Amino acid sequence: MAQQPFDVETLDASFGAVVTGVDLPSIDEAAFDALHRTWLEHALLIFPGQFLTRAEQDAFALRFGPLEFTAVAFSNVDADGRILNDPDHDVVKSLRGNEGWHHDSTYMPLQAKGSVFTAEVVTSRGGATGWADMRAAYEALDTETQQRLAGMRAYHSLYYSQSRSGYMPTKTEGGGYDMYGFHDLEPSLRPLVKVHPETGRPNLLIGRHVYGIEGMSESQSEAFLDELNAEACQPPRIHHHQWSAGDAALWDNRRLMHRGTPFDMTEPRVMWHTRIAGDPATELADNHQDQRETSGRAIMGEDTLIVG
Ligand SMILES: [Fe+2]
Repeated sequence: MAQQPFDVETLDASFGAVVTGVDLPSIDEAAFDALHRTWLEHALLIFPGQFLTRAEQDAFALRFGPLEFTAVAFSNVDADGRILNDPDHDVVKSLRGNEGWHHDSTYMPLQAKGSVFTAEVVTSRGGATGWADMRAAYEALDTETQQRLAGMRAYHSLYYSQSRSGYMPTKTEGGGYDMYGFHDLEPSLRPLVKVHPETGRPNLLIGRHVYGIEGMSESQSEAFLDELNAEACQPPRIHHHQWSAGDAALWDNRRLMHRGTPFDMTEPRVMWHTRIAGDPATELADNHQDQRETSGRAIMGEDTLIVG
C-alpha cells in the first residue's frame, strides 16, 4: 500500500488514533481517500492543533457525506458571553445529559453517520470526551449472548434518556420542547446489533437513549440494557481525550458511543459540533421513513439546543 500522507499513532484501546502531519482544510482527494480508510479502520481520529474555523470544520465534515447539521456550539457560554452554570438551565441540563454513553441521533428517524467535534475554549481541568467501541464490545460477548441479541430490537428516545437522568428541558408554552430531538414522531425502533454498512462488521447499538426491548417488560428490558451498557463500556474498549484548544476529533457514530465528562461550569468552555447524516439505506429506524426534510425540529434555528 502506498505510504499515507500523514502520521497515524494508534491509541492504547481497541480503537482510535491520533493523526498528525496533515492540514485538514487543504487535503487533496488522494489524502482524503487514505484518511477515510484510516477512519473506517480506527473509528476515532484525533487531530491536535488544527484550529479549524467553523466553515472549515463543516467543509471537512461534508467530505464524508451530507450533514445532519452544520457546526453548533456545545458551550456553557451564551450569546452575550455570560457563563451558564445554573443546574436548572436547559443548556446545563443538555451538557449534563451528554455525560451518559450514547450514539448520536439514534432517537431521530435517521441515526448520524459521524461527527466532527472541535475545541475552541477549554477548562483548566475536566471536560474530557470519552468514546467506547461497540464493535469490540460485541466481539467480547459469548456466542450465546450474541445469538440472544440477534433479532432483538428496542426504542430510542431523548424523552427517555433525559428524563431517566433527571435532565429534562423546560416545557414551552405549547407543551413541547425546543431542544433538538424532542420530536412528536414515534420513538425510533432499532436492532441492538447493527451491521456497519462500510465494514460489514457487527456492533452493539445501545446507550442511554435505548429502552423497551420488544417482547420484554419495561423493568426486564432496563435491567438487561443496564448490564449490557456497563459491560460494553470497559477498558480496553474506552478512551477519553483531554482537550486542548485547536484539537479536532472525527468519529464513526455507527460503531462508537461517546460521552462528555464533568467540568467546573464556572469556567467557560466552547466546543463546536458538526453532525454527518446517516445513510437512509442503513441508518434509518425500522419504523420510519426518511423524514429529514419534514421532521420539524431537525431544521435548526440559530438558538436550537442540541442534546447528544
Ligand atoms: Fe453526543
